[in-house]
Amino acid sequence: MTAGSPDSVKIRFENVWQRFHVVRKRARTLHSALVHLSARRLMQFELEALKGVSFAVPAGETLGIIGRNGSGKSTILKIIARIFPPSAGRVEVNGHVSPLIELGAGFHPELTGRENVVLAGVLLGFTRRQMEGKLDAILAFAGMQEFADTPLRQYSTGMLARLGFAVATEIDPDILLVDEVLAVGDEGFQRKCLERMNSFRRQGKTMVFVSHEMGQVRAVCDRVLLLHDGEVLAEGKPDEVIARYHALLREMGPGAPVRK
Ligand SMILES: Nc1ncnc2c1ncn2[C@@H]1O[C@H](COP(=O)(O)OP(=O)(O)O)[C@@H](O)[C@H]1O
Ligand SMILES: [Mg+2]
Repeated sequence: MTAGSPDSVKIRFENVWQRFHVVRKRARTLHSALVHLSARRLMQFELEALKGVSFAVPAGETLGIIGRNGSGKSTILKIIARIFPPSAGRVEVNGHVSPLIELGAGFHPELTGRENVVLAGVLLGFTRRQMEGKLDAILAFAGMQEFADTPLRQYSTGMLARLGFAVATEIDPDILLVDEVLAVGDEGFQRKCLERMNSFRRQGKTMVFVSHEMGQVRAVCDRVLLLHDGEVLAEGKPDEVIARYHALLREMGPGAPVRK
């Protein structure tokens, strides 16, 4: 959080860079191990996941982020959620951010649904008692009462998504981050989530929504950012940016590899 900036801007990225060291799989044979030993560079390479990304999200806006797999969308959300700081650049986040709703993120497979909900809340600064007070509403929204005492490793991906979305929205954040998770929920649950996101919008909350479902992006976003290989390629009205994205996909063809 940075002092001196207007309250009306909830999120601001200025020339943000993110560098990762990407590991290559360890050699499986003695011969290739020796070859790799002599060329350690081959065991990892540097990847610029974000290359000078700038944007701002005013209070009350729902920003969509679209782009191919590996373009850097989740990296942006993780920086907003303070999971890690960027390699370079300036980031400002004003307000209470939801836990990042990404599949299984922050959840512990050996703990039950109930235990995970309480733990997730405690990690966000709520007391155990406050979280116990929210449990029924969370389990009810997720439709997961039957599985409250089941360890998460026995949940389906859709069930994990339900629990994640329910926790993130019931704690009533100022800024809600949603990363691709709706796609694994059934249509009934997706509709329920979109309704809840729209009710958040009406309450003037700020959201960042990452999705490959362009219909959903159109339904909830005020503005959309198209990310490509770590750079902002387009930014603006949903229909225009989605058209630009489809043109990009056509240009690249269906067999295009992830990143250049
Ligand atoms: N923790 C990490 N370590 C190394 N590389 C990473 C890590 N997280 C993401 N990356 C790389 O950064 C790039 C962008 O990833 P990501 O932001 O997850 O893309 P998207 O969400 O748009 O599919 C990818 O090439 C990915 O391999
Ligand atoms: Mg992602």
